[in-house]
Amino acid sequence: MTDWQSEAAPVVAERIMARVGERHPNKTKRLRTFEERLESRMSPLLEKMHDLYGWRWDFAWWLEGVIEVAADAFLRRDKTLRRLDAEASLDWLNDPATVWAMAYTDRLCGRFADLPETAEHLRSLGVTHLHLMPPFERPEGGGDGGYAVASYRDMHPPLGTTVELREAIARLRDEGIQVVLDFVANHTAENHFWAEAAKKGDERFRAFFLMFPDRTQPEEFLPHLRSIFPDRGGDAFTWRPDVAGPDGGMWVWTTFYGYQWDLDYRNPDVLVEMARELLFVVNLGVSVVRMDATPFLWKKLGSSCENLEEAHIVLQILDLLVELAAPSVELLSEAIVHPDDVSRFVRADECRLGYNPVVMSTIWDAVATRDTRLLRMSLEHRQVLAEGCQWLTYLRSHDDIGWGFADEDAEALGIDPQAHRRFLTDFYVGEFPGSFGRGLRFQQNPVTGDCRVSGTLASLAGLEDAAESQELAAIDMAVDRILAMHTLMATSSGIPLLYLGDALGLLNDRSYVERIDEADDNRWLHRPFFDWAMLSRLEAGTEGQSRLLSGVRRLMQMRTGLPALARAGVKVTDQTDVAVIGYVRGDSEHRLEIVVNMSDRDATGVVESRGLDLWSGRTIGAGLCRLTPYQVLVIAGDADGAEATSMVRT
Ligand code: GLC
Ligand code: GLC
Repeated sequence: MTDWQSEAAPVVAERIMARVGERHPNKTKRLRTFEERLESRMSPLLEKMHDLYGWRWDFAWWLEGVIEVAADAFLRRDKTLRRLDAEASLDWLNDPATVWAMAYTDRLCGRFADLPETAEHLRSLGVTHLHLMPPFERPEGGGDGGYAVASYRDMHPPLGTTVELREAIARLRDEGIQVVLDFVANHTAENHFWAEAAKKGDERFRAFFLMFPDRTQPEEFLPHLRSIFPDRGGDAFTWRPDVAGPDGGMWVWTTFYGYQWDLDYRNPDVLVEMARELLFVVNLGVSVVRMDATPFLWKKLGSSCENLEEAHIVLQILDLLVELAAPSVELLSEAIVHPDDVSRFVRADECRLGYNPVVMSTIWDAVATRDTRLLRMSLEHRQVLAEGCQWLTYLRSHDDIGWGFADEDAEALGIDPQAHRRFLTDFYVGEFPGSFGRGLRFQQNPVTGDCRVSGTLASLAGLEDAAESQELAAIDMAVDRILAMHTLMATSSGIPLLYLGDALGLLNDRSYVERIDEADDNRWLHRPFFDWAMLSRLEAGTEGQSRLLSGVRRLMQMRTGLPALARAGVKVTDQTDVAVIGYVRGDSEHRLEIVVNMSDRDATGVVESRGLDLWSGRTIGAGLCRLTPYQVLVIAGDADGAEATSMVRT
């Protein structure tokens, strides 16, 4: 920060507050709280806005603009939300009782109004946070399952109204469940009113998007860009004859689908208007906002247009505005990029939470190879986060699975990263001899050979294959494998994130090919409808998937009683067998040791310290121990063990 910035900050703050005060003469008392919050945030805001737009003659106008947007949103928070802001605490980030789940409202229960009825099931899994896929208005044809937003102010009609969504969020909160919604920061839908205005030639809104009259500039950008959806032909630009241009149309920047128009944050007008939409979502009553596709927010010629410093600054500004308007709300970053870049998006002054694609993909690696060395590497070297931040650890999401380990990590183990990724894809689509994966290839890149995989957790992890064989032993083995994976998710790092339905072992849903809006995106394969009848059946049973359901429930409840999981950091233990992964969480006061056999054969594990295995209730001594296929040991120090077992009913 330069001298002039620290001198200017209070002066600017005062002037802006005077203007805001004039517009809301009867809110002076309430605005004092906002003014107090602004005091410590004005300098960083000024600095960051200046980093992005300081060269503009109208810089001061935009600076005032973002603060006014925050003040307006602040004034719109109702009594309940204001109380939450006053009580805001970050304790839940490290609380072992925090468990996330995700679902599509329609596929879970139908409509917003039905959401509160799901609370009982959510509670049985220990869920405290529910991420609902984007419920907003979208273009015809489905709009990427909601990730093409036509308006944040209007909901997708089959789901219900904005009022109903607000009510559902409030009712779930009363049940102890916080709602998380998306903010699709990188783009809008082709039929958002900004895009519609741009089509009609409105100069202001044209400047919201990246549009080119011919191929000159796109061709300069293209060689540096990664193709996100290669099935589209490797082009990040879409020719739109409906946008008036000199040659009867314009090329529009579309990183994802052609109907998802990238926004140009180099234009401060975009930042101000997107901040307004973000804070509208915040004021629906959510406790966390998932910032979609964070790496892509800033474009610069000659760069990959991913992970640029300016993208971070945009997020930091948005975070400051959320702190001003709604300090109880946190941001989650979705950055599925190189491990080093992933963790850069997770900062106390940016997004406090981030998905952990490295642990996710190396768990799948261990399952396919029965070799835990890459997983050990990611636990040992890839978990450090800034203070006050947290990972979301997951096994799969609504998206495809990519092989997100670092090339250098694989090479350090003597593994050829590209060949290994090809193997993993082959394995999970069932094309490798003896494999049990039942997935589909997603978006194979013909140039680089890169490919991702679609499929539900259960189908990829062998339950579908086993169910077809109708052999009970094979089904049991698949269930044990899936439970072992859940154990890693629940104990290795961060907050566990469940995809609702995975605890039932829901298999691939091939019916998407019959639905015209879904047929050409096979991620719908792994977004099955939740099966409430099956839930009741499984609850009544004891075998196969019933054991999966009760096991996941037990695991999530077990977490609650394990203070060791509240501590950051994980120490990988030495093992003699590559199939076994072992690690220690916590400290000398609260210690938890996990040992898992990630293979379908017997293995020998090494236990560092004696303690009580919470799964079996048996005391395990230090030293070598024999592990059956996918056997899991969750060993607590004696005192913690006794407490945790008393909390969990089996
Ligand atoms: C995110 C979403 C994904 C979507 C993409 C474009 O990565 O998770 O489903 O396709 O962004 O919005
Ligand atoms: C890429 C993007 C990620 C997106 C996914 C969708 O992995 O990095 O943001 O979710 O593609 O398939």
